[in-house]
Amino acid sequence: MPEMKKLGQNDPETRSVDVVVGNVEALKALLPDAFAEGKIDFEVLKSLLGDTVDEKDEKYGLSWHGKRRARQIALAPSTGTLLPCPEESVDWETTQNLMIEGDNLEVLKLLQKSYANKVKLIYIDPPYNTGKDFVYPDDFRDNISNYLELTGQTDGGRKISSNTESSGRFHTNWLNMLYPRLRLARQLLRQDGVIFISINDKELSNLLTICSEIFGEENFIATLVWERGRKNDARRFSLGHEYIVGYAKDLAHIEELLPAWREPKEGVTEIVEEYDRLKSIHGSDFEALSSGLVEFYKSLPDTSPAKKYSRSRFVDKRGIWRDNNISWPGGGGPKYALPHPITGQPCKIPDDGWRFVEETMKEKIRDGFVQFREDHTKSPFLKSYLYIDGSNAGNDDETAGEKLQVMGSVFYRHSQPSNDVMKEIFGEKVFENPKDHIVLSRLIRYCTGSSDTILDFFAGSGSTGHAVWELNHRDGTKRRSVMVQLPEPLDSDDRDQALAAAFCDSIGKRRTISELTKERLRRVGATFRDSSGLTRNDIGFRVFKLTSSNIRAWTPDPDDLENSLLKNAEHIVQGRNEQDVLFELLLKLGLDLCVPIQTKHVEGKIVHSVGGGVLIVCLAQGLTKDVIEPLGAGIVAWIKQLAPAVDPRVVFNDSGFADDIAKTNMAAILSQNGISDVRSL
Ligand SMILES: C[S@@+](CC[C@H](N)C(=O)[O-])C[C@H]1O[C@@H](n2cnc3c(N)ncnc32)[C@H](O)[C@@H]1O
Repeated sequence: MPEMKKLGQNDPETRSVDVVVGNVEALKALLPDAFAEGKIDFEVLKSLLGDTVDEKDEKYGLSWHGKRRARQIALAPSTGTLLPCPEESVDWETTQNLMIEGDNLEVLKLLQKSYANKVKLIYIDPPYNTGKDFVYPDDFRDNISNYLELTGQTDGGRKISSNTESSGRFHTNWLNMLYPRLRLARQLLRQDGVIFISINDKELSNLLTICSEIFGEENFIATLVWERGRKNDARRFSLGHEYIVGYAKDLAHIEELLPAWREPKEGVTEIVEEYDRLKSIHGSDFEALSSGLVEFYKSLPDTSPAKKYSRSRFVDKRGIWRDNNISWPGGGGPKYALPHPITGQPCKIPDDGWRFVEETMKEKIRDGFVQFREDHTKSPFLKSYLYIDGSNAGNDDETAGEKLQVMGSVFYRHSQPSNDVMKEIFGEKVFENPKDHIVLSRLIRYCTGSSDTILDFFAGSGSTGHAVWELNHRDGTKRRSVMVQLPEPLDSDDRDQALAAAFCDSIGKRRTISELTKERLRRVGATFRDSSGLTRNDIGFRVFKLTSSNIRAWTPDPDDLENSLLKNAEHIVQGRNEQDVLFELLLKLGLDLCVPIQTKHVEGKIVHSVGGGVLIVCLAQGLTKDVIEPLGAGIVAWIKQLAPAVDPRVVFNDSGFADDIAKTNMAAILSQNGISDVRSL
């Protein structure tokens, strides 16, 4: 006998037709303009039905629910700090790179003092809002607790959910997430700085609109297209491309002061790669480098685009060059006397005249672009550089790097798919569709100089950090990387995250995406070391983790005032150490997190000197009246020895002083020696 299904209250069959839903659907079909994110916009509906709307209220721009709040969120100061984690870092003592684990909103706030106007290029690849990405909800009142809870760092942490299209706040949530972060990011850019943001069709138009609002329409650089591969299951068009939206902090400044951006032409990259390989063998033996290049050209097939540059076979300290004619193209050039540097006699003037007017010629000679022959009987020649070693790629001098070209606006994926790169690094595809680090390194090389800082605050698997290191390794440059990544929990029950979670288990780390970022950097860095572990590049990174401040806020319990007073007598949160407080001070005072720190015992107390004596910190306890005098004298002597360029600041722990007299005495001793900026925490 067939089973009889018992209908319950929740079964659709027991409910009457939902008239409202039907009406809404009918209205949507008739007047789609009256809907935004699946909800009726009654103002628009009224106007579509002929009701007059006051034109005063119509403004140009994108508005969404929560925009004002998003603006405020960017302004509210962070109550957090960044805890140093030397044990998870690589080359802690010497590196200039940073890997910060935390919510980027808070981290961007904390970096405002130390890194304002310092970053040359920001590249970000935020969640695209595909419905599967989670969008981290900021909490206006206490975002640090919210962060700790969402990332499972406090008991009973909430589960982060994804931003689905049916949530009714699909675009809103995404805009609320990105808007304050972009505002904060802008402050970190140098005046000649640029930001590039990856995005797909879902949010491209919204992204362009908020970027034009935040960075200014006049600072729009380009929307680049990144062809990342065909999707064969598509039913209409195979959307294999994405975009990279570029804005400058101040495009007028870049146009006015910086040379045009250029990159090597096709074929030149192979030559430069060979040159780098030869350099790693022959160092600066220019003759050996030159012979190596000659052999390389010979080995190339005739079809190779590099072959046509085979005249560029000479090497000097500047790079790879060829000899070039120094006469005026087409004839009719100036014919002044140019003395030979050894014989002092005027050199033979080319029939067509010199290529440059006299003034320019003198500059070219001074800058080493003109090569004289053994004596004056032959004209000198011009050195035309195919490649200028380690310099800013943007050199458009006509005798230097003449084989450079402007970049096109379409990028193609590199021959090695980035998913394979994941397998090569991790042994597994632990991160879905990471960005191609070779393409990123090309973009970074194109618009940054050799020691610039590059920031990615949606670091994911760390492709941008990898790109910066790849570039430094190749060009011998010293670009710095700053990565920020949320410790986004990985769920081993989720099919898409199971591999990554298992990988974290296998290396004994927490199941989070930031563990993958750090591990990628460690593994990639190791490939740039030689067999004895040495490297000429900075492939280290300092790890910091976002958490609540080290300094306890005064939050008395009204029912137990006595106890809360006692608790607050010690201002520093239990479990935090001296180094933690020291780095919070650096952030609050606006010092670089990689600034050199020296530590010394003075009268048995630990004293730190930050940045060559700019900041002196002593957080020791037990500063009694007997200790004050010798400790003060020791600090004064150390500052004199360090001779900082600016007036030093000295900081103590307030509860370190035995009493108020000890504190006053210390201030007096320092002030007598001209040190007036003295504070206690
Ligand atoms: C699209 S992925 C970036 C992938 C990266 N470009 C790569 O090649 O591996 C975006 C990343 O941003 C991270 N993320 C999302 N919200 C964040 C937040 N509030 N703070 C820091 N990172 C966040 C996500 O965990 C995710 O790993």
